Amino acid sequence: MISIIGSGSVGTSIAFLCVCNALDDVLLINRTKSKAIAKSLDLTNAIPSTSKFSISGTDDYSKLIGSDIVIITASTEVPLNDRSENISQQVTMIKKIAKKIKVYSPSAIVLIVSNPLDVLTYFFQKETQFSRFKVFGIAPSLDTNRFQYHIAKKFSILQSSITNALVVGEHGDTMVPIFSNIHVNGHFFPMSDVEKDSITLNVRNYWKTLRDYKTRSQFGIAKNVYDVIDTIINKKEKIIPVSLVLEGEYGEYNVAIGVPTKIDQDGIIEIQNMDFNQSEKNLFKISAKTIRNNIQSI
Ligand code: 2OP
Repeated sequence: MISIIGSGSVGTSIAFLCVCNALDDVLLINRTKSKAIAKSLDLTNAIPSTSKFSISGTDDYSKLIGSDIVIITASTEVPLNDRSENISQQVTMIKKIAKKIKVYSPSAIVLIVSNPLDVLTYFFQKETQFSRFKVFGIAPSLDTNRFQYHIAKKFSILQSSITNALVVGEHGDTMVPIFSNIHVNGHFFPMSDVEKDSITLNVRNYWKTLRDYKTRSQFGIAKNVYDVIDTIINKKEKIIPVSLVLEGEYGEYNVAIGVPTKIDQDGIIEIQNMDFNQSEKNLFKISAKTIRNNIQSI
């Protein structure tokens, strides 16, 4: 069973992809029971007639029993200027949710989507003491999608011609797009510092562009989460950057931060060791420090 905590636009878009593709039974949990029930009734009509799975909604966490995957999309408030601006309410929320998941679905793989992503991934893992390879934040892959989009746009090339574009670090203002290994049509693709700076700014501010258009990310993040659920349920393998607690990898300890990984049905099976250039290493360190400071501010 796939359980989704939070039935706003992101949670329900993830549920929509899961039911349309007949992945598994889906449970929506929302603090407002009627919202979870209403959304699940609507989504029920999207289930293909060939699917043997169903969707239901509740505010009762005990229904989490039997979950293989739990996805956390809940939010106390929508951030306007900084993903960390509601940090203390969000941490309080994640700790409460963590306690319940620990009781009702202690062997689930948990995907964190709520912000501030890295800080919440850290506190969830510490609160539950679940394996750090089964608790990870999904958003560095969304940032990577945005990175590819802006490279393609700037140079008027196809996104599909770009390989090895990757964003690591915080899912926040210190995220680190890795330029040193980008290839286009199989060839290394050098860029000037001015080009790199402008792409970096656009990637970091992508969510603010959506906000300025009076909308929020929904489908992009939903598809990124869906791809991970599909990998787990259908026993595939996937290389993807995610946020997880590091214990010495990339020189960092006791902080959750985005790095490239390999995942399969058991969660993270490998933290990939990628070579960054010196300036990227420095930026990654600053990013880790920023997340650590946010963790310590609680
Ligand atoms: C995003 O990057 C707000 O984290 C969300 O779109």
